[in-house]
Amino acid sequence: MIVLGIETSCDETATAIVSADRRILSNVILSQIEEHRPYEGVVPEIAARSHLDHIDGLVTRALDEAGVDWGDLDGIAATAGPGLIGGVLVGLTMAKAIAMVHGLPLVGVNHLEGHALTARLSDGIDFPYLLLLVSGGHCQVLAVEGVGRYRRYGGTVDDAAGEAFDKTATLLRLGYPGGPALERAAADGDASRFALPRPMLGRPGCDFSFSGLKTAVRHAVAALPDGKASPRDAVDLAASFQEAVAAVLADRAGNAMRRFREEFPGGGRFVVAGGVAANRRIRAVLADAASAHGMTFGAPPPALCTDNAAMIAWAGIERLRLGLSDGIDLAARPRWPLDELRGTSEDRP
Ligand code: KG4
Ligand code: ZN
Repeated sequence: MIVLGIETSCDETATAIVSADRRILSNVILSQIEEHRPYEGVVPEIAARSHLDHIDGLVTRALDEAGVDWGDLDGIAATAGPGLIGGVLVGLTMAKAIAMVHGLPLVGVNHLEGHALTARLSDGIDFPYLLLLVSGGHCQVLAVEGVGRYRRYGGTVDDAAGEAFDKTATLLRLGYPGGPALERAAADGDASRFALPRPMLGRPGCDFSFSGLKTAVRHAVAALPDGKASPRDAVDLAASFQEAVAAVLADRAGNAMRRFREEFPGGGRFVVAGGVAANRRIRAVLADAASAHGMTFGAPPPALCTDNAAMIAWAGIERLRLGLSDGIDLAARPRWPLDELRGTSEDRP
């Protein structure tokens, strides 16, 4: 089975061809970073127009680079939400047109399910597993029991982890996009110089909170001479911030691991996904937490953690294999929680 995937829910126009034997035949990503940089954030209107300008060419490129023809495809998968609705509409409409013209089944993929199933593409892991999904818009921990079968243990009560990285990077003037810039700065910083809070640490449950941490960084800057962070201050604050996020994630994920191991006795696997999972320090701290709880740690390669279309094509393959596809009337959804998803029909009454 060979599927074309399309991802347009944020600021990357991405297309990919993936086969059911877990081969990524092509994986094309066009980042809009330069278009959004002057605004230090993603402008939805600019994003939608840019997706529209490039989607045609990127679909052709994915086919060319994979060396496949329309006739080789068994399905088409596109992100149908959640995300910036203008962009989602561009990708989904393109997918519908292709499905109609070439008589292919269509799968409207939940972007979060794309992240959630990526470790099955990269590492071929089995269900069930515990998933920490940390991206720009989402921060949640879930038991993944099957395709469409996600049970939420907890999530952020305010900002997502990636959002906190982005806002803190802006505050420290580290550049855009914030997450990778902050990680680079932190590499040269002294994480022990500023004592930042670790929200929720030690509390029961699996919820997260990051907005207090971001505010603490702002206060720390205000307390510096002239109320400004020097380049030295900025890298030290970046390191302290990254360390605090890693500690909070590990603590909350640790509670989730305990619960998961009770529900699914006998080891188990802890998987981290989403853009923040590209962060090397966070991966290392989470790997330690997993081994302390007797769980195997897994994380897709960084390029498959940040947004891409290979994960969308793969989620399409997982669904098509179960006989799940969507009608041409499928609506794009700006909001679409993972635990509202449907999997195989026998899973739910
Ligand atoms: O999964 P993703 O590409 O898009 C969403 O679905 O949100 O995640 C993007 C988020 C951004 O907030 C970005 O700053 C963060 O992931 N991110 C990172 C790193 N790379 C991306 N955060 C920390 N360290 C990184 N290396
Ligand atoms: Zn994402």
